[in-house]
Amino acid sequence: MKRNITTLPGDGIGPEVITEAVRVLQTIAGIHGYRFEFEEQLIGGVAIRRFGSPLPTTTLDACLMSDAVLLGAVGSPEYDRTPPNQRPEAGLLLLRSALGGYANLRPAISYPSIAACSPVRREVASGTDILIVRELLGGLYFGEPRGIESNVASNTMRYSVEEIERIAKVAFEEARKRRGKVTSVDKANVLETSQLWRQTVIRMSQNYPDVTLEHLYVDACAMHLIANPRRFDVLLTENLFGDILSDEAAVITGSLGMLASATIGGEVGLYEPVHGSAPDIAGRGAANPCGAIASAAMMLRHSFNLEQDACDIELAIEHALEAGYRTPDIAEGTGGYVVTTSEFGEVVCEAVTEIVNMRHAYHAV
Ligand code: NAD
Ligand code: IPM
Ligand code: MN
Repeated sequence: MKRNITTLPGDGIGPEVITEAVRVLQTIAGIHGYRFEFEEQLIGGVAIRRFGSPLPTTTLDACLMSDAVLLGAVGSPEYDRTPPNQRPEAGLLLLRSALGGYANLRPAISYPSIAACSPVRREVASGTDILIVRELLGGLYFGEPRGIESNVASNTMRYSVEEIERIAKVAFEEARKRRGKVTSVDKANVLETSQLWRQTVIRMSQNYPDVTLEHLYVDACAMHLIANPRRFDVLLTENLFGDILSDEAAVITGSLGMLASATIGGEVGLYEPVHGSAPDIAGRGAANPCGAIASAAMMLRHSFNLEQDACDIELAIEHALEAGYRTPDIAEGTGGYVVTTSEFGEVVCEAVTEIVNMRHAYHAV
């Protein structure tokens, strides 16, 4: 069976990390004898410069026709003063809404071998294993009306019961596969959208008596997350809160470069690291490819039903870290050797090969 993947490297460090994710996918496919067909397309700033649009029709069509989409990052300082709807980021938002995935899964895991590079003390950070379930197609990002008129600007926060129900369902189902706890995060002491959110989540929880539900206001959640990350299992929240809290959760793991994501629930799955185009380090081989590689693993899990292979890639990342390989962002205070983006990718490929071979050898005896 041939699986078609559209790759959208995008801007800044996007191409650097996507090269490594593709290399790891090719490695695991090669070992098992299945095939991925990769088609690269433009999105973001590179697409604006080439075609005058952050999401050209050829790119969108290719994504809609493929089995999964792997994206690097979009955005560049040269568009800092460009209106939102003409910026590179607009291409990503259009793509998300066209693919229809409303559930953005963002795992945040603290790996012991790099715990020392987090500003959060080891005894606080260690053991952190959180799944942020971020609603991705609603809220302030997509609410109408929006705009700027002379000296007044507006965005609209909007949520429907159906939008809340479908994302809550994903969170409860994921919690069942994990430690059975959902923390729903809102601002129900101020916002009507959050009151509807809370009521709907409570109603949905009745279908999941085996899952513990708690509610936190987003401000308090931001505090608890950094003070005691182990209290969280699944963190369910709306679009903008999820965006902010996931960057905060990344600090616990050591770097924004560590976090992966999968966007599910639509026709075509979308997989992207949580970080942006990191213009401050782009083009230097200093980008951490872990988030992109782990996003590729999530693609195997959610789009291709290849759970074992997804786990093998995740384990290979862990092995590379345990063996001491680090990109600069995770090097401070952790010992080990600083390597480039592509050297790290190479080590992960070697580790994947070793892990799969060891299992084959084990089953052969
Ligand atoms: P950013 O995530 O690009 O970078 C924040 C900081 O984290 C920087 O210091 C950067 O060097 C570091 N960092 C991020 N990813 C890293 C990695 N893989 N390895 C090592 N260090 C890494 O956020 P920003 O600087 O606020 O935004 C830059 C641009 O990226 C903006 O245009 C923004 O809109 C865009 N952005 C895009 C996405 C996306 O495409 N999904 C996500 C976030 C931001
Ligand atoms: C993310 C990014 C995007 C978001 C931007 C680039 C549109 O910050 O994926 O976290 O806000 O969703
Ligand atoms: Mn973000």
